[in-house]
Parts: sequence; C-alpha cells; structure tokens
Amino acid sequence: MLFEKKLNWYKLFDSSEAANMMVKEGHVTTMNVGKKKICLAHTAEGFFAVNDKCPHNGASLGNGYCTAEGSVVCPLHRYHFDLKTGRAKSGLGDVVETYPVEVREDGVFIGFKETVWKLF
Ligand code: FES
Repeated sequence: MLFEKKLNWYKLFDSSEAANMMVKEGHVTTMNVGKKKICLAHTAEGFFAVNDKCPHNGASLGNGYCTAEGSVVCPLHRYHFDLKTGRAKSGLGDVVETYPVEVREDGVFIGFKETVWKLF
C-alpha cells in the first residue's frame, strides 16, 4: 500500500492548568488546530474534541454547550451529540467526527488521523 493513516498529535495547551483556565468545566469552545476547526468540551470526565461543524446543518458546536451527561448541544436546533462516539442522541443518523485528547506532563494534545505517503 502506498499510503497509511497515522495519528498526528497537536498541542492545544502547554499545561492542564492552562487548559482548565481557558475552558472551564461545563463549557465548550472553538479552536483552529492545523487545518481543522474543532469544538473542545470540558466535562467532569475531562476534555473531549469533535469537529466544530454540526453534521445536521453546519452550525458551530463550539457556540453551544455541554451537558453533565457528556453531550455537546448544537446552538441552532439543540441536537445532542455524544462526545465519546459523536452520535446524535436523538436517534437521528447524524454523527460528528471525534478526536482523541490526551493530557500529558508537557501539555494537552489532540490527535488527528492523517494520511501519509509510504514509499517503502
Ligand atoms: S445545525 Fe446543529 S442541530 Fe441543526
């Protein structure tokens, strides 16, 4: 195969303290990372990231809010999306892309699956 999918990590914050200051628990925000626009949510279980564009009609999920049940709520039509699976909780078929977030000693990182060419 000439290409493979690889998880590339991007630093969002220099420390967990900085992340906690910028995105308080119970809140969401929009961030530009690499070539993507993400919605970062801070829940009681930690940080979760999904694509910022709502799969229903394109609203910015980062302008919504998150729930204690681990959903992000779209500000336009109030659809709830599970932050772990990306699936709409209302039973609709809409799914938002999710990204792994890791809190490490040297910062908070997000992983994007990217295609890399493999020559040998
Ligand atoms: S645009 Fe998000 S629920 Fe409709």
